[in-house]
Amino acid sequence: MAQMKTEGASHYDIQKERRENQAALWRSHQVPVVKGDAVKLEDVPSRRTRRGVYKGPEGESISVLMDASVHEISPGVTTTAHRHSWDAIMFVIGGSGTTEIGGQRIEFKPWDTIHIPAWEWHRHTNTGGKDVRYFTWSMEPMLEWFGLAYLEDAGDEAPSTLPPPPTSKAAAALVETDDPYVRRLQRLIGNDQEAGSRRLHTAWDDVTQRVSPRGARSSFLVDSSLGYQTSGLTAVMHEIAPGLWQARHRHGGEAHLFVVSGNGHTKVDEEPQYWTSGDLVVVDHWCWHQHCNDDPDKTARVIRVHSTFGDIVDALLDPVPTLEEDPVRDRPDLSGLVWPDPNDDRPEA
Ligand SMILES: [Fe+2]
Ligand SMILES: [Fe+2]
Repeated sequence: MAQMKTEGASHYDIQKERRENQAALWRSHQVPVVKGDAVKLEDVPSRRTRRGVYKGPEGESISVLMDASVHEISPGVTTTAHRHSWDAIMFVIGGSGTTEIGGQRIEFKPWDTIHIPAWEWHRHTNTGGKDVRYFTWSMEPMLEWFGLAYLEDAGDEAPSTLPPPPTSKAAAALVETDDPYVRRLQRLIGNDQEAGSRRLHTAWDDVTQRVSPRGARSSFLVDSSLGYQTSGLTAVMHEIAPGLWQARHRHGGEAHLFVVSGNGHTKVDEEPQYWTSGDLVVVDHWCWHQHCNDDPDKTARVIRVHSTFGDIVDALLDPVPTLEEDPVRDRPDLSGLVWPDPNDDRPEA
């Protein structure tokens, strides 16, 4: 009989050690701010891009759930087509071009946001005269954690000619009777049909920023409320007025904030973390945090991205509250404030 590896250890000891290792793994990835100018762009000839990864303290991604990268494409260049099992959000920092996702072609300009769904073939083309530069958040680390991370490259084949993502429709011939298995299949096929009408692009020109109860001006860029279907990724653009701040709060899921423009700091558990455009702020779960604009004249813009884990934590801990704010929100008085032009720091296409 084969020797059991766990001989002598009780399930309690094994689980306890596993929990400690998991917490240590989480902490080993955590870093409060990654400076954009510390991110090294490397040539990626096999994809015809340049890519720089925002790294945690041990050289890994900045979280066990999400990674963050900046990418560049030279004028006139089309990347290879590829697809992967994780989904991603892409925010255009500068330049203009097109992204093909399956049979759809999307034109993008600076400050546009695009969702790349899992398993959809996609490629990007720089159609302008300047480098295209874009930032991405992806769920690759979480999929690796689950043992489900896959990536395929199709070289110069156009996404429109490549096979669509796997669907449950292939088994549609089985849908003949009303047994439980058929009902399950019908539900999954329903998801496939919804995927055909999902949203993929938010143009900055179409975004209306609204003042939020926390004292910033905000709007979703990617969210189910806008018709997106993601693995739980949501993105919001926060604009913090010159010299002002957002009310302090904390929540269960971590937040990843890319600084689009401006200079400021985020107080994380009262410790100031200073940032400027191109930096990424990573607020760990259940830390008190408050974003502050240190510039007296210019708007600070940060895009906060949450993954689905925040929602899962909310559900699993119910009825324990997972969002906490000060009883009286420490928000600035915005009455009479004339907000700066939403395009004041936007690069020309
Ligand atoms: Fe991709
Ligand atoms: Fe937050």
